[in-house]
Amino acid sequence: MFERLERAPDDPILGLMAAFRADSDPKKVDLGVGVFRDAKGDTPVLDCVRKAEQAILARQTSKTYVAPAGNAGFNQAMERLVFGSEHPVFGAERIRSIQGPGGCGALRLGAELVRLAAPQSTVHVSTPTWANHVPLMTGTGLQLARYPYYEPARGTINFGAMCQALEALPAGDVVLLHASCHNPTGADLSREQWQELVPLFRRKHLLPYIDMAYQGLGTGQEEDAFGIRLFAAELPEVLVAVSCSKNFGLYRERVGVLHVVTDSAAVGLAALSHEVRVARSIYSMPPDHGAAIVHEILGNEALRDSWTRELQGMRERINGLRRQLVVQLREACPARDFGFIAQQRGMFSLLGLSVDEVKRIRAQQHVYMTDDSRINIAGLRAENIEYFARAVAQVLG
Ligand code: LMR
Repeated sequence: MFERLERAPDDPILGLMAAFRADSDPKKVDLGVGVFRDAKGDTPVLDCVRKAEQAILARQTSKTYVAPAGNAGFNQAMERLVFGSEHPVFGAERIRSIQGPGGCGALRLGAELVRLAAPQSTVHVSTPTWANHVPLMTGTGLQLARYPYYEPARGTINFGAMCQALEALPAGDVVLLHASCHNPTGADLSREQWQELVPLFRRKHLLPYIDMAYQGLGTGQEEDAFGIRLFAAELPEVLVAVSCSKNFGLYRERVGVLHVVTDSAAVGLAALSHEVRVARSIYSMPPDHGAAIVHEILGNEALRDSWTRELQGMRERINGLRRQLVVQLREACPARDFGFIAQQRGMFSLLGLSVDEVKRIRAQQHVYMTDDSRINIAGLRAENIEYFARAVAQVLG
C-alpha cells in the first residue's frame, strides 16, 4: 500500500531546523523557527514555569484522564487573560472554551466547527500568512482564499486593499486575522483599523477567526488583545485560537485553547458539544501538564507577577533587537531602508530578499531564514547581529 507514496516536501519552517543542526560552521545563525531566544541564544524554561511544575508534581496524586474539553480551570483562566476579567461576554455567558493540543490544535478545532456548521464557507487568510494556517484550515475540507494585507515596499499593511477585498466577500465566509505580532510580517492592525473593521464584519456577516500566538510579546498583554476584546464586544460571533507556546515558553508541552464567542449561551453550549465530539474523534483528550502549569501560574499572585516580569523581559529584548538591527543594517546597507523593522512587532519581520538571495545567504554565510526571508528577530545576539547585517549587505551586493 505505502509503496505508492512519494516523499512529501519538508515543512517550510520545521525543515530549516534540521538543515541548521546539520551545518557545522561555527558562524551559523538561526533565524528560522519562531522560538524565543535569550542573550545567550537559549530558549530557557521560565522561572515561573519551573516553580509551577514543582508545585504541581508535589501534590499530584493521579494521572487519570482530565476531560475532552481539557482543564476547566485553565480554560477559565485563559478566558480572563485573553478577554480581560470585566468583558461583557462573561455576564451574558457568550463564551465557551475548549483546551487544544497547542495553538495548532486549537486552530484546527475552530476550523472543524466551521466545517460542521457551514461546510460551504471559505476561509480567507492574509497575504502572506503563517505557512501552517493553510493545511490547518484546508485539512478540514474547507476552501481557502487570500486577501491582500502586506505592502512589502513600505513594510506596512495595505489597509485599503484589505478592506476592499473583505467588502467583496459573501456573507458567512471566515476571515482569519492575527491578534498581534503578525506572522510572518510583524505588521499589525492599529486600534483605529480594528475599529474600522467592526462595521464591515457586521454589515457583511463575516466570521472573524482570530489567531493569538504572541500575547504580551508585541506591545503588552492588554494591548495585544485589543482586537479580540473589541470584536467580541461588538460582533455576535468570534472564534479565537490561542497558543501558550511563546509567551509561557511551553512549546513542547502543547498548550492552547479555542474560545468560541456566540450570540447566546444556548448556541455556545451547542457549539461546545460539537467541539468535544471533534476532539474525541481525533485525539480524545488534550495533554495535561502544560495547561496545569499555566493554570497554576495564572492562579497564583506571586507566580503571575513573576510571569509578567519574564514576559516583559522577552518583549523588551525583541523590541530592543529590532532597534539595534535597524542601526546595523543602516550601516551595512545604506542604500536600502530597513527602518520598518523597528516599527513592527513580535518575533518576525520579512527582510524583502528574493528566494535566490535567501538561498545564497544560507549557503555562503550560514544564515538560516525561511524562503520568504522571514527572520526570527529573537535569534539575533550581540555576538551575531553585526555579522548578520554584513551578510545581508553582501548578498544584496
Ligand atoms: C513559527 O512560525 O516559526 C512558529 O510558529 C513555529 C511553527 O510551528 O511554525
